[in-house]
Amino acid sequence: MAEAAIIDGKAFAASLRARIARQVAALVARDGATPGLAALLVGDDPASRLYVRNKSRALAEAGMGSWQHLMPADATQDAVMAKVAELNDDPKVDGILVQLPLPEQLDAAAVLNTIDPAKDIDGFHVVNVGRLATGQEAMVPCTPLGCLMLLRDRLGELKGLDAVVVGRSNIVGKPMAQLLLAAHCTVTMAHSRTRDLPAVCRRADILVVAVGRPEMVRGDWIKPGAAVLDVGINRVERDGKTRLVGDVAFAEAREVAGAITPVPGGVGPMTIACLLLNTLTAACRRRGLAVPEAA
Ligand code: GUN
Repeated sequence: MAEAAIIDGKAFAASLRARIARQVAALVARDGATPGLAALLVGDDPASRLYVRNKSRALAEAGMGSWQHLMPADATQDAVMAKVAELNDDPKVDGILVQLPLPEQLDAAAVLNTIDPAKDIDGFHVVNVGRLATGQEAMVPCTPLGCLMLLRDRLGELKGLDAVVVGRSNIVGKPMAQLLLAAHCTVTMAHSRTRDLPAVCRRADILVVAVGRPEMVRGDWIKPGAAVLDVGINRVERDGKTRLVGDVAFAEAREVAGAITPVPGGVGPMTIACLLLNTLTAACRRRGLAVPEAA
């Protein structure tokens, strides 16, 4: 069998970002107000700082505003919720992102549920989770939304396909399963306690893996011809160098799959592109304007 096609998330995300930039320019020309996102970062975790900085840069490149709000690692629940409430009331702010993880003393769910659901560009508020689960208009979490776009681009119609999602996080696994279900796939959610995980994965026409375990999914877990989306980004030491690898053993999987995302350059770039998309979507909805196509 031929080697798998590589799903080039980097190129797909670049063209999506260019389209969003054009749509933002059209919106600003029409409405005057620049769409913008406020990011709230609590504490000084270096990885989180880098993520927030990258998100801000991408927003600026698309012509959108971004504001970073930094709070100390020992911030109280009341102080963080008061900051979110202030951003809810700020008419300049179309989207609010609370960078996760939050420091341990904070109740993350309570913070997320304080965000105005219309500004919840991560789609983590229970109202958006419920809307997605019941087929209503929702803000959809960025990483699974990006995965769905890549799958539709590659496979077209998804109806009737067997999809297996490995990992049950609120950020990726659960919303991914909801999106695939809404696309009429037969969905299995697998996780660390699943019995005979390799056999479950082998059923999948679509395999989405988001577990955070380097190269856990082996080549012989994959159904020949399957589409494999690898959400993992793991830093490993190899030959004295630090490398990024996914949750799927790429070289092995590539021999069996029909299409596969690389790490880096697969799902990762789609997360940021979908953050821009969700910010534009929120801005259009708040202004009572039609949401642009593909948004
Ligand atoms: N931390 C890891 N992934 C995410 C994400 O998608 N959104 C936010 N806000 N924090 C994260």
